[in-house]
Amino acid sequence: MCGIVGYVGKRRAAPILIDGLYELEYRGYDSVGIAVSDGNTTKIIKKTGRVKEIESAREETGYIGIGHTRWATHGDVTVENAHPHTYKNITLVHNGIIENAAKLRAELMQRGEKFYSDTDSEVIAHLIADESCGDLLSAVMRGCGKLVGSYALAVLTEEEPETIVCARMRSPLIVGKAKEGLVVASDIPAVAEEGAELYSLDDGEFSRLDGKTVTIYNAQGSEIHKEPIQFDLAEGRAEKGVYRHYMRKEIDEIPNVLSDSTLKIDCDSRFSDFYRVLCHAEYIQIVACGTAYHSGLCAKAAIERLCRVPVDVRIASEYRYADPIVPKGTLLFAISQSGETADTLAAVRLAKRKGACVAAIVNVKYSSLTRLADHVLYTQAGREVAVAATKSFNAQLAVLYSVAVVLAEIRGKRAPTLNGLDKKAKRTIGISESVRSWVPYFVGAQSVYFIGREADMCTALEGSLKLKEISYLPSEGYAAGELKHGTLALIGPYTPVVAIITRRDIAQKTMNAVHEAYSRGAKIFLVTCFEEFCEEKEITAFVLIPKCPSEFSPILSVIPLQLLAYYTSVARGNDPDKPRNLAKSVTVE
Ligand code: F6R
Repeated sequence: MCGIVGYVGKRRAAPILIDGLYELEYRGYDSVGIAVSDGNTTKIIKKTGRVKEIESAREETGYIGIGHTRWATHGDVTVENAHPHTYKNITLVHNGIIENAAKLRAELMQRGEKFYSDTDSEVIAHLIADESCGDLLSAVMRGCGKLVGSYALAVLTEEEPETIVCARMRSPLIVGKAKEGLVVASDIPAVAEEGAELYSLDDGEFSRLDGKTVTIYNAQGSEIHKEPIQFDLAEGRAEKGVYRHYMRKEIDEIPNVLSDSTLKIDCDSRFSDFYRVLCHAEYIQIVACGTAYHSGLCAKAAIERLCRVPVDVRIASEYRYADPIVPKGTLLFAISQSGETADTLAAVRLAKRKGACVAAIVNVKYSSLTRLADHVLYTQAGREVAVAATKSFNAQLAVLYSVAVVLAEIRGKRAPTLNGLDKKAKRTIGISESVRSWVPYFVGAQSVYFIGREADMCTALEGSLKLKEISYLPSEGYAAGELKHGTLALIGPYTPVVAIITRRDIAQKTMNAVHEAYSRGAKIFLVTCFEEFCEEKEITAFVLIPKCPSEFSPILSVIPLQLLAYYTSVARGNDPDKPRNLAKSVTVE
């Protein structure tokens, strides 16, 4: 995580760095800093907290600089641990984790070198300074040769006052030309502007920005040429408009995102190559993390029921250490909004080594996952700013359900249509506003439970994750039938239990769990498409969502849960867009 940015050119660097850091805040926001040089001295301004804490640094003079917004990995959230870090003539910002930092630090300290922070990043500054030889690029290359782990780096030295050297290993990095200068950043929106020419570095590559030219080198130090990124300025821009928070706005975008993300085999070029792969799919694995993992679980429920193709869904961070069995012909879906989640990328590398064909379902174009995968199916969610995933989850489901429909057709099975889900999502959002009246029951709760069966259980898991990450309330998503095997012990008077019921043939089974929870004093909240259950005496409040094929119901039933999490978070005085301890793009293990 962490975001880095740099500029060298004819404009003053500080405002460009600060504006860029605002765009990168989604990557971490516990401390922030910039280094700006006027050619003679390098001034470092750093603070704990968000980018706004260094607003006054906008006035700094100097035409070259680097900046950083941090998500702490090594070391507490303190000014000392904030970036940039400096040693002798070297100043740098780093995103990633250096796994051999403790060993390197011990060696350097034995040689008498002093450290001022607890970070792994400061070790890199020492290594590069120790390699200094009048050529910053060579020093960075040699310094990086000693590192084990992941890094995206931007490095300055006063000895080369018009140069920034950059390096990438398993953490994203963009370099390029912008208006009257050269730029580097963790992500496109931080530096994109009209006429900018941007390039994405790959693992092991370096770049030198030296006043007028951007040069890119491979790991052996040979110059290489790359195609510029085709970015869309409008796509990268995100405004809150009339909304108080991005999260609420992004929920309202779900209907459009669904119509844009639903793939149609007869007129969709995104399917053309991939169709042949689907024709031979006999066994599917899915790897993902967090919300994307939950969309994988929803996909399993739909694909197995509709297509009778076995699907294994694995948490990416577990898959990579499990020595997974990857039978010949395995089709592996990697699902990720950011396309940069370190665990998902590592799982994909492993699956590829074991012979799987990898299809990425990803939102961010030019992300690392898109370059690793054999096939890419983009979700069309647009930029998602709020840390808690909402519209990207629904978009992943739209793509995965489209795949399920096509796979069912290939296998000669009948599948329901996805048509009209966008309109139903719009109605669901309107109806679900009523969850605001549920908030008083949740706002002070000690714990909250979400229950459902089969696809509804997947929705329960996602509803629970949403609530805990932005409201900080302990919560669990549970298979309704499992309550009685232990968890019921935790349910007492006034415990909020949210039941999701969208599949007719097992509805009554979930209602049994509702009765059991109610008998222990729980307050029951219901999300369902069946009117008859709403009137039962156990139900404190309900949202009656539109009917849709039960295989696809999570795409609608999650909406009231997203809104419930949002309104509970706001009622507890939290910032739902930037929950504590989290970041949007999890580029560390
Ligand atoms: C929860 C959330 C996270 C992400 C997870 C994977 O709201 O956003 O759980 O889903 O970190 O991220 P991506 O999808 O970028 O791989």
